[in-house]
Amino acid sequence: MKTVKKVVFWVLVAFALIQFIPVDKVNKPVDKAVNFIDVKKTPEKIGSLIKGACYDCHSNETIYPEYAYFAPISWSIKSHINEGREHLNFSVWGTYNKELKENMLNKSIQTIQSKTMPMPGYIVYHKEANLSEAERTLLVHYFEEMLKSKTY
Ligand code: HEC
Repeated sequence: MKTVKKVVFWVLVAFALIQFIPVDKVNKPVDKAVNFIDVKKTPEKIGSLIKGACYDCHSNETIYPEYAYFAPISWSIKSHINEGREHLNFSVWGTYNKELKENMLNKSIQTIQSKTMPMPGYIVYHKEANLSEAERTLLVHYFEEMLKSKTY
C-alpha cells in the first residue's frame, strides 16, 4: 500500500510540474492578401464551414479550447496544429505554387470524403466540425469547381 501511495504522490507531482512547460499558443498575424477565404472570396456559407471545421489546425487563426491548457493534452493538441499547418495552412494559401494548391485541393476532397478530415477525435469536442453529408458534399463541390476552373 505504501508504494502505491508513493507512486500516486510522484505522479501528481510530475503532473503539476509539467504544467510549467510552456506551449506557444500565440497565433501569427493573418495577411488577408494571402488568406484562402479572403483571396478566394469564398461564399459565406462555405467559408464558415471551412473556418469551423479546418481552420483550428490548418490556419493561423487557431482558437484553443479550454482543455488545451493542461499538459500533456496541450502538447498533443499543439503537435496536431503544428503538423496540420505544415501540411496545409489556409492563412498562407496565396504563397503556394500551382502544384501545391492542386495537390491540397485534391487531398482536401479525398480526406473530406473518406472522413479522415476533420480529424475524428476533434469532432467529438467541436460540434461545428461534425459535418453532415450535405455539408461535406458542399465543400467537395466547392473545391472540385475550383480545380476544374483553375481558379486556385
Ligand atoms: C484537429 C486538427 C485538424 C483539423 C480540424 C483538420 N485537420 Fe487536416 N490535418 C491535420 C493533421 C495533424 C494533418 C497531418 C497528418 C495527417 O495527414 O493525418 C492533416 C493533414 C491534412 C491534409 C494533408 C494530407 C496529406 O496527405 O498531405 C489535408 C489536405 C487536410 N488535412 C485537410 C483538412 C480539411 C479540408 C479540414 C477541414 C474539413 C481539416 N483538414 C481539418 C489536422 C487537422
